[in-house]
Amino acid sequence: MMDRRVRLRDRDGRFGLSKDKAETPVGQLQWGGRFGAGPDAVMQAINVSIGFDQKLWREDITGSRAHAAMLGAQGILSAADVEAIDAGLAGIAAEIEAGKFTFVDALEDIHTNIEVRLTERIGDAARRLHTGRSRNDQVATDFRLWVRGAIDSVTAQVTDLMKAMAGRAAEHAASVMPGFTHLQTAQPVTFGHHLLAYVEMLSRDAGRLRDARARLNECPLGAAALAGTSFPINRHMTAAALGFDRPTANSLDSVSDRDFALEYLSALSILAMHLSRFAEEIIIWCSSPYKLISLTDAFTTGSSIMPQKRNPDAAELTRAKTGRIFGALLGLLTVMKGLPMAYAKDMQEDKEPVFDATEAISLCLAATAGMVRDMQADTARMAALAGSGFSTATDLADWLVRVLGMPFRDAHHVTGRIVKLAEDQNIDLPAVKLADMQAVEPRITEAVYQVLTVDASVASRTSFGGTAPSNVAAAAAKWLEILA
Ligand code: ARG
Repeated sequence: MMDRRVRLRDRDGRFGLSKDKAETPVGQLQWGGRFGAGPDAVMQAINVSIGFDQKLWREDITGSRAHAAMLGAQGILSAADVEAIDAGLAGIAAEIEAGKFTFVDALEDIHTNIEVRLTERIGDAARRLHTGRSRNDQVATDFRLWVRGAIDSVTAQVTDLMKAMAGRAAEHAASVMPGFTHLQTAQPVTFGHHLLAYVEMLSRDAGRLRDARARLNECPLGAAALAGTSFPINRHMTAAALGFDRPTANSLDSVSDRDFALEYLSALSILAMHLSRFAEEIIIWCSSPYKLISLTDAFTTGSSIMPQKRNPDAAELTRAKTGRIFGALLGLLTVMKGLPMAYAKDMQEDKEPVFDATEAISLCLAATAGMVRDMQADTARMAALAGSGFSTATDLADWLVRVLGMPFRDAHHVTGRIVKLAEDQNIDLPAVKLADMQAVEPRITEAVYQVLTVDASVASRTSFGGTAPSNVAAAAAKWLEILA
């Protein structure tokens, strides 16, 4: 039996440029005599993928079991061989699960590692498994299965975050806070309304993931190296066994398409962009000048020298990890750009960015859901800030239009003069004296004060999708029902 502990590096751990050969001539295992001398150590170092593609072991074994069963059903393999292969692969799965499997660099990738191990376990029958397929359609199948599973688990996390946000939105349907444009106080909104804005974004993110999954769900297995195969295989059977909707229609496309991974990374990038915006808002809301919310120790860290500090590190890292996720998308787009048909080894570089982005988004989603559940809103401070900065100026202008029949442009002008007056006296709008307002526009009456409070302002925003607490409570309840 071969030495399963082959190492690529020299004793100092360097990938040398010398002519040293790798310790085990992998070429002899895979391609026979043509590469009898074994690959140069550098060749192995650049070629090896087992360090990262071992993540695909479950998918690889599942795919091989489906392939073997189909070969048996089609009379291409004997029932005895199929039985031996199936039991052997199940045994390997148990070995890997138990941490008893040695992944060998010299065997390049997960496909060869498993196949060689299968040969060790069951002998000759293993050598028939690769009938009617190639590593090209094998890796395309494994990777689709992996991305499909990742889409499902990311979608579940998105749903959990939406639930957390909708729950807090229901709680804060009537809590007023300053609404901003340009990060300048614009008009009062409710905290619940603000949170539900993110629920809407996240629901589109989940939709994009669902769409990507639907397009991904075709099975490339049986496309073989690029041209299909002369064996009487049944691709519909393997597609169904692996939970795909149908086999892919063109063998060249089957082995060269990585759109599914790019679509997934695109959806993750937009999702990460949304999470980074919310993270930024948490950071702003927690900051000393704002203090609209606070987070507990569960999601903050202290400073080693400034005891008063509570830093929103989880939000900052959620904001930052967006970079790796965008990087993954840009990296894979660049790998695929200009690649001629069909398979090329370039495509082996598809996996690490996808794995890394998946780990990053999963952490970001968990951290964001945790912060949403953890955060405490200072509703008194929110209300106070909501009323500052002449935030009800639009309500005053609307009142002039509604009650006095003024054209909006004139009302805007009159309101501007009253705001200037308040500014000069260093007071907020509700504190401006009626006589002062009447000096600007004589028809203004006492009734105007009813619209100048923040509560009256938000309560009046009953247009569809507006921030009125009644709207927000209904929208939060609708989301909680959908997500239950
Ligand atoms: N490790 C390879 C990859 O991830 C598997 C396919 C190799 N195919 C080949 N013809 N060398 O792309």
